[in-house]
Amino acid sequence: MSYLRQRARKRIPGFAFDYLDGGCNEEVNLRRNRDDLRDIQLMPRYLEPYSGANLDTELFGHRYKAPFGVAPIGLQGLIWPGAPKILAKAATAHGLPFILSTVGTASLEEISKLTEGTSWFQFYHPAEDRVRDDLLNRAASAGIRVLVLLCDTPTFGFRPREIRRGLAMPPKITPANILQMLGRPRWTLNTLREGVPRFANLLPYMPRRMNLQQLGVFMDGFFEKRMTRDKIACIRDRWKGTLLLKGVSTLDDAETALKLGLDGIIVSNHGGRQHDAGPSSIQSLNQIHRSLAGKIPLMMDSGVRSGTDIARAMAFGASAVFLGRAFMYGVAALGHRGGDHVAALLEAQLRQVMEQIGCHSPEELFEYRE
Ligand SMILES: Cc1cc2nc3c(=O)[nH]c(=O)nc-3n(C[C@H](O)[C@H](O)[C@H](O)COP(=O)(O)O)c2cc1C
Repeated sequence: MSYLRQRARKRIPGFAFDYLDGGCNEEVNLRRNRDDLRDIQLMPRYLEPYSGANLDTELFGHRYKAPFGVAPIGLQGLIWPGAPKILAKAATAHGLPFILSTVGTASLEEISKLTEGTSWFQFYHPAEDRVRDDLLNRAASAGIRVLVLLCDTPTFGFRPREIRRGLAMPPKITPANILQMLGRPRWTLNTLREGVPRFANLLPYMPRRMNLQQLGVFMDGFFEKRMTRDKIACIRDRWKGTLLLKGVSTLDDAETALKLGLDGIIVSNHGGRQHDAGPSSIQSLNQIHRSLAGKIPLMMDSGVRSGTDIARAMAFGASAVFLGRAFMYGVAALGHRGGDHVAALLEAQLRQVMEQIGCHSPEELFEYRE
């Protein structure tokens, strides 16, 4: 993965790379996610009878070909033109779940069609009830079955690398940013071909022809950032499909999610982009799993970069694992081949580690923790 990351850095403008790669504040939580995960050891059983690894995974009534998927990333098209479509197609071809962000650069209708109704939709809560209901209706009409509510963005994360690049709201087009684009002709040509990335899901609610200043004001007022129990309960009433909560990092919040009737939890700290003094995601998963194992499916993201990391997270109780940056490094490094490459790489790495330790299925990984 570090090779793909380095190649991505060379292929996309600096502002796009820092947007993807950076964490908040001093990037302590970004590093902690990685370090704590990498510390996990899996114990091999070389002398037990073994009949091979099967990666099939059942999640919410659907069979996937492996226990991992693509995490939602806003403004994917800024990182690499057409990225949501590239990743949605790759995920579908590999039988993996793909989660589209509300602030993604492809519409939920287009992605649901592309993924034959298997994509999930991450829901940023709009400030207006009318827009909330319209987005929920659109998702249901498009055939989306899994809605992912987000709870870890009550504030805009303080991300120095983005601020230095002018990626605040409103964004600034600085001479340095223009120079960076000119230095990355392949990215620039692809952007011209695909068109300037837009918040495709929000277009029906946006005034036409806004300048960047107006866009900043619009985006600031459009979402209600803080998630509350009332908002979750209200969506639980309205959404008939599977409802997950993403961004949970403590047992208290996980227990609240369970009480509110959520169908699953994605333990996550947004890849270290929001709260620099928080626990690593694997630490959170460990704590939550000790109390809630078997009561509600627990999934995890943040810090996962390889098939071995996927196995490590599953050994700590995850029923599935999501990756944000890893998939995007692949697309930024390899363009339209990137999604396919990363999916195949992770699958091969996960299978290898399972065969190495003598584990038959993803669920069984739990028995291999040290
Ligand atoms: C550039 C970037 C943008 C993101 N945008 C969103 C978003 O719009 N919605 C969301 O739920 N999570 C978003 N996330 C968080 C990811 O869904 C996921 O939690 C995180 O990337 C996992 O960590 P990893 O990158 O170490 O795999 C974003 C992450 C990155 C890196």
